[in-house]
Amino acid sequence: MNIPIKTPDEIEMMREAGRQAASVLEMIAPHVKAGVTTGELDRLCHDYIVNELGSTPAPLNYHGFPKSICTSINHVVCHGIPDGDKKLKKGDIMNIDVTVKTADGYHGDSSVMFIIGESIQGERLCRVTQECLYHSIALVRPGVRLSALARAIQQHAEANGYSVVRDFCGHGIGATFHEDPQVLHYDGYAPEADAVLEAGMCFTIEPMINVGGHQTKVLRDGWTAVTRDKSLSAQWEHTLLVTETGVEVLTARGEEDLAFLDH
Ligand code: MF3
Ligand code: CO
Ligand code: CO
Repeated sequence: MNIPIKTPDEIEMMREAGRQAASVLEMIAPHVKAGVTTGELDRLCHDYIVNELGSTPAPLNYHGFPKSICTSINHVVCHGIPDGDKKLKKGDIMNIDVTVKTADGYHGDSSVMFIIGESIQGERLCRVTQECLYHSIALVRPGVRLSALARAIQQHAEANGYSVVRDFCGHGIGATFHEDPQVLHYDGYAPEADAVLEAGMCFTIEPMINVGGHQTKVLRDGWTAVTRDKSLSAQWEHTLLVTETGVEVLTARGEEDLAFLDH
């Protein structure tokens, strides 16, 4: 395994990519409400990324993915395909996953959950999943092993009665959308993937947490991953930089409280 260490120049370009991805999620938030279609949200994100940011939506045509963002509703775990016929309705929960590729060629990858109207079960799941992400981010600094991040996520998810998806993981990121290392979110047997973090590494953490079992399957469209038991699933994702003293959340949004990282 070869985990790239970013140069200072590359780190600047990763910062810009991260800011751009965050800005797309901030832009789209007020548009997410009952009645809007996921196809419309995709169009808004596409046009903003291309026309306002001068960048490229990395998912579009990525291994044949047909749209610019992923929209994953309720029991969809990840990689949901935006659809002009799919209207959001009250009680839905949805993940929007945005990856921007800047003109410099660097990637910023981040996703958030939205609750449409009210959902008691959905709100709890989304909150605990974000806590899983935050607990693992708080551990990031040079010398820490990736497995420590995975354990923090799994421990918090299972303590709340949920399960951690095993079929998808986080990833190194840079000039390549998905690069080494693989970032597992559960305590899996992947010793070769258990890298020791070093300053200058960039990777995502993007736990997918299910109310029911962890098993998933991919639908016949070749992309949409769903829970096998049709239980609700949530995901949050950030792109991170390992610094000399800890971590920088490259995709931090203005509304987000990351004060827990100042320890
Ligand atoms: N953004 C996703 C991730 O977090 C990958 C989406 S690939 C796509 O890694 F092709 F489905 F868009
Ligand atoms: Co990712
Ligand atoms: Co993503």
